Amino acid sequence: MKKSLGRVYLVDDDELILAMLSRTLEREGYEIRTETGENGLIDKIISWRPDVVLLDINLPGQNGMDILKTLKNDAADIEVIMLTADDTAETAVKAMKIGAWDYLTKPFNMEEVKIVIGNAIENMKLKKELDYLRKISSSFFEKDFLGVSKAKQELKEKVERIAEAHVSSILITGESGVGKEVIARNIHRMMHGTEKSSTVPFIAINCSALPDTLLESELFGYEKGSFTDAKKSKKGLFEVADGGTLLLDELGDMKLSLQSKLLRALEERVVRRIGGQEEIPIDVTVIATSNKDLAAAVEKSEFRMDLYYRLNAFSLNVPPLREPKRKEDILVLARYFLASFAKEYNKPVEGFSTEAENLLMAYHWPGNVRELKNVVRGMVVLQNTKVIMPEHLPMELSALAMHKKEEGQKDRFVLPEAGISLDEFEKDLILQALERAGHNKTKAAKLLNISYDSFRYQMMKKFGLE
Ligand SMILES: Nc1ncnc2c1ncn2[C@@H]1O[C@H](COP(=O)(O)OP(=O)(O)OP(=O)(O)O)[C@@H](O)[C@H]1O
Ligand SMILES: [Mg+2]
Repeated sequence: MKKSLGRVYLVDDDELILAMLSRTLEREGYEIRTETGENGLIDKIISWRPDVVLLDINLPGQNGMDILKTLKNDAADIEVIMLTADDTAETAVKAMKIGAWDYLTKPFNMEEVKIVIGNAIENMKLKKELDYLRKISSSFFEKDFLGVSKAKQELKEKVERIAEAHVSSILITGESGVGKEVIARNIHRMMHGTEKSSTVPFIAINCSALPDTLLESELFGYEKGSFTDAKKSKKGLFEVADGGTLLLDELGDMKLSLQSKLLRALEERVVRRIGGQEEIPIDVTVIATSNKDLAAAVEKSEFRMDLYYRLNAFSLNVPPLREPKRKEDILVLARYFLASFAKEYNKPVEGFSTEAENLLMAYHWPGNVRELKNVVRGMVVLQNTKVIMPEHLPMELSALAMHKKEEGQKDRFVLPEAGISLDEFEKDLILQALERAGHNKTKAAKLLNISYDSFRYQMMKKFGLE
């Protein structure tokens, strides 16, 4: 048997019309069910799950418009095509407003019937495919942007909303190494679908790495002869990225005059090459990143306010790893990187000791995920042990353990090889005492054998804790 092109439910009180339509459509390859419109019509339709319903507007004793409304409400993925006897535009407009895909006027032109049904089914398949692609691409986010923290979950939801809205400019802020580019690439993938996104351009440029004039000509392109070195004309990255995504890294470092030009491109959706007259239309999603506080830069007149507001309308802030609401991600990421590097470098290492994990959690990770990834890679490559212990960790982490008494050497602390400032040492002990005392200051003071008052003095005044 030939594969069905789709399921079509025909509803009309005229048996002759039903017979004629079903014969033609069956011959085309559709599966057909017919109904003259008795009771229980809607249940019958929905339970058969057709792709398309051809629905007579004038059924005896029933209003086709009401049936249409109920169908669109209860089974939005079924397309409805109305059959009308009068071809007043009014009825048709009303039906389309309620959600009908199209309408056909009696007497039918069978070619038109075939085309309208074909289009409805085609469109629905596309819609379903898109939904499906969206689902897979968001699960890609789970794979690329690991984490279990609340912050990660919030980011994921926001990323999905922004991608779905297909906005044309997005701002991603956050410290170095927090995963801004990972997020930008995921937005790109969600917007264009997993499969198609690899064929749609994703262009990244670092605004702080290039001198201003070069950045301008890279972004906007130039015409031949527009300056001494312009021997040929060249497309700018806005043109190269057309139809896709342009990632402007470290936008905070762009100089003000170029910011104006960028704003104009974002607002008018056209660019003009340097030395050129022509306005070139562009269809690009611009994702800007910054690890500077742009609002503060606006205050200091280092960043254009209008550009800031434009970008900030859709913005994401990626918190650093050390922040309480993201801290939970540290171990998830560390264990994941450990396992994957162990596999990649064919090393015996299986995990971290509890103490080593405590140190990973206690460290402030100024370089965030990138630093964590590099630290773990370094250990996997250098160590031939099964379990990573505190002494395998790099200096900046193992220094955190200096308060620990060395085994067998009672009452002595381990001085890290690189040395340590006494202030840091003291602050760390205070924090530890607090932690162990469940943040009860009296108990913490006891642990350090000092008075409550001097403990408070140390905490508040000297280290700005509290
Ligand atoms: N949540 C995460 N899960 C897995 N890997 C991550 C995650 N976040 C970041 N990474 C990895 O960390 C590294 C740094 O990420 P990325 O380049 O996205 O950071 P960034 O915020 O753009 O940094 P910079 O400001 O320095 O450009 C990359 O190797 C990336 O794959
Ligand atoms: Mg980056």
